Amino acid sequence: MAAAEKPPSADAPRVDQQGAPVLHVAIVMDGNGRWAKQRGLPRSLGHRAGVEALKRTVSAAAKLGVNSLTVFGFSTENWSRPAAEVAELMALPKRYFETDLARLHREGVRVRVIGRREGLSSELLKLIDDAHARTENNDTFNLNIAFNYGGQADIADAARRFAEDVAAGRRRPEDLDETLFAGLLATAGAPPPDLIVRPSGEQRLSNFLLWEAAYAELVFQDVLWPDYGEEHLRAALAEFAARDRRYGAIVADDVLAAG
Ligand code: IPE
Ligand code: MG
Repeated sequence: MAAAEKPPSADAPRVDQQGAPVLHVAIVMDGNGRWAKQRGLPRSLGHRAGVEALKRTVSAAAKLGVNSLTVFGFSTENWSRPAAEVAELMALPKRYFETDLARLHREGVRVRVIGRREGLSSELLKLIDDAHARTENNDTFNLNIAFNYGGQADIADAARRFAEDVAAGRRRPEDLDETLFAGLLATAGAPPPDLIVRPSGEQRLSNFLLWEAAYAELVFQDVLWPDYGEEHLRAALAEFAARDRRYGAIVADDVLAAG
């Protein structure tokens, strides 16, 4: 196998340095609006029901052996929604942290909000900073909330930071490789997602974790996010477990056959 094809982690056991299992699931929380519409409710109530689904899903993930969960809460493109809906979405982190942050902290969850800070209110930024500071030393479970996040925006921001470092003489162009670049992204230091789930029947990434998705398995489910819970995550994980991940290599039996 050519060195360039060598996967970073194909043969590596899926455990961390302490031997604990590593399984990172990312979810595009989608379908809140349709869920509300089906019930004749305002979209805001769909979003609030989505927060309840998030609570169920975080508990289910920890129970089902997932140790990192990254959820897409607000994209850099969601600013184009009506102002009232944007305001409702902006209020969701507060709603979630008010009811759940203390419990998450007690349970050892490290909470990170990833995304651009520009555009967020100072109140929301303080909430985010407090959540980071409070939970940064926790290590039983990682909850990453992508908020004002866009995969392309994050890649562009990382490229700009690298260019600034080169211009300032701190780095040389030839220093840049995949590992260094990954360290400039909002997800720096975290393992890439093993599985990306999108409920609501849509089958696209919508600018979520574009760089990090390189070898993720994708599972699409026909449930609207506010209805999501343990049974759906269990089904997604079962589908994931049945996949044959090769990272650009070939399976062991075929190596023997080829030899
Ligand atoms: C997900 O639900 C929430 C966000 C994208 C912020 P939607 O609001 O996209 O729900 P649908 O797609 O209209 O049903
Ligand atoms: Mg949607």
